[in-house]
Amino acid sequence: MSERLQHLSKRGSEFLGVEHPIMGGAMSWLSEASLVSAISNAGGFGVIACGSLNPNELEKEIEKTKKLTDYPFGVNLITMHPQLSDLIDCCIEKNISHVVLAGSIPSASSISKLKKAGVKVIGFAPALSLAKRLIKSGLDALVIEGLEAGGHVGPVSTNVLAQEILPNINKVPVFVAGGIGRGEAMSFYLEMGASGVQMGTRFVCANECIAHENFKKAFLRANSRDAVLSIQLDDRFPVIPVRSLKNKGTKLFLNKQKEVIEEFDNGKKTMPEAQLDIEHFWAGALKKAAIDGDIDNGSVMAGQSIGLIKREQSLSEIINEFIIQADLRYNN
Ligand SMILES: Cc1cc2nc3c(=O)[nH]c(=O)nc-3n(C[C@H](O)[C@H](O)[C@H](O)COP(=O)(O)O)c2cc1C
Repeated sequence: MSERLQHLSKRGSEFLGVEHPIMGGAMSWLSEASLVSAISNAGGFGVIACGSLNPNELEKEIEKTKKLTDYPFGVNLITMHPQLSDLIDCCIEKNISHVVLAGSIPSASSISKLKKAGVKVIGFAPALSLAKRLIKSGLDALVIEGLEAGGHVGPVSTNVLAQEILPNINKVPVFVAGGIGRGEAMSFYLEMGASGVQMGTRFVCANECIAHENFKKAFLRANSRDAVLSIQLDDRFPVIPVRSLKNKGTKLFLNKQKEVIEEFDNGKKTMPEAQLDIEHFWAGALKKAAIDGDIDNGSVMAGQSIGLIKREQSLSEIINEFIIQADLRYNN
């Protein structure tokens, strides 16, 4: 690796305790022991997706991952999880070095509990004002994720978020996510002031990823324009957009919204209950496609970088290739 890339990677790598400042974005059902340990063993930083796991299940996943790697890895917790406090305790007991809090603005109590135990806390910043607020509330690092990403996304592109946030935030490391599929993009964002990147889509077709063969094949067939945003049915009922491949499941989401809006209108569900119902829909739909292989009716969550994936590869091959690409501008 060139001295320049080493220099640019230093802050992020030291923060994560790894060779390359490349985080594996947590993907529900897929970011489990096999993929997470493979990312960490390849020099990146794997992150377990806790998703809807309960504390016992999370503990088992952490233990399984520790058996597969001696390198650091993190845990992603969804802040709306009803057992969030117990999940935090589990991460502390299991000596997890980094916790990513996703889903909403993390509460001060969650942050302080983790920090008191010496855990580094990472959160998502969807705008500069919020990034500043999150740093004040004690976050140790930020991820900025643009709308090119797979799964739940915000409204702003990675490119614009990077220009809004990177020149203005230096207090904590910032990792850029959304649409990154080649190493050149990493060195570009490092030059702009980022400390590293986070990728999800790029890792789905890794040999070590447990995604169903049908799910991986759908990734290999797809073009970038096939990864589209979910449609919101009713302005009164805001849903966070999800990027996935267009299929029958996309229509099922519209039906689900209709059903939930009716229940909401009839007073059978409050807004938070209705929102939770929608989240459970996505978790179930993703499992159906990613694990069971029903890529027609399930949700094939994927980012726009899907068009850059050409074949199934080992994690070490993916990371090595990515670093060579990141270094091209310094070696020529
Ligand atoms: C299949 C899939 C599932 C995902 N599940 C989650 C999740 O459970 N929690 C989360 O915070 N992000 C989730 N994400 C987002 C990733 O963590 C990551 O930030 C994103 O994939 C980065 O953008 P990229 O897809 O363009 O690489 C998911 C993404 C994908 C593709």
